[in-house]
Amino acid sequence: MSSASKPVKIAPSVLASDFGKLADEIKAVSLAGADWIHLDAMDGRFVPNLTFGPPVIKAVREITDVYFDAHLMIEDPDVILEDFASAGVQGITVHVEVCTHLNRTLSRIRELGCRAGVAVNPATGVDSLAHCLHLIDLILVMTVNPGFGGQDFIPEMLPKIEQVATMIGNRDIQLQVDGGITAKTAPLVRQAGANNLVAGSAIFGAKESYLEAIAALRQA
Ligand code: DX5
Ligand code: ZN
Repeated sequence: MSSASKPVKIAPSVLASDFGKLADEIKAVSLAGADWIHLDAMDGRFVPNLTFGPPVIKAVREITDVYFDAHLMIEDPDVILEDFASAGVQGITVHVEVCTHLNRTLSRIRELGCRAGVAVNPATGVDSLAHCLHLIDLILVMTVNPGFGGQDFIPEMLPKIEQVATMIGNRDIQLQVDGGITAKTAPLVRQAGANNLVAGSAIFGAKESYLEAIAALRQA
């Protein structure tokens, strides 16, 4: 099944939620139809921002059974993979830019019982993923430079999404996009082949309800 024909998954990014009510926010989007909860862990080094890590994730894990998708914007992910797995996430995505031995890192994520994802920044090509496809469960094409929510979608990423979709072919690999995904940009990324849409501001900042915001992205 090609990426575009896989069922669409909507993954609200809690980065745009009210951190003072994180547990309630996760519960609310879960009830509103979120397929996955996207958890952005930032270390203040790989990106110029800091968020949260395994202890916070562990504290909200019991709120819902929905799939926890950890996006690690962390310079040295290998040393903390086990902590994320123990915190109860089902998927861990690392950035290719910081993985010197990508196949080792991806294998380790699977050994820990999680699905292995790899993210590529806007400036990064995807050729280095080709030799690891058998170890990859998800490819995340960043459609903004990581670090902050609410940035504008970079349209030049559309050909990269198409390239990744072709690379994935019929493999069971999610093609995820993250950054500037709204009801306007969702049809573009879907058409290019993405099936897994992360959205922060478009859901948590929505004027309408979370339910309507998630439905709008799903229908796009
Ligand atoms: C950015 C994060 C995103 C962020 C997306 O570095 O990886 O997940 O929350 O935010 P929006 O959807 O507002 O662009
Ligand atoms: Zn993210």
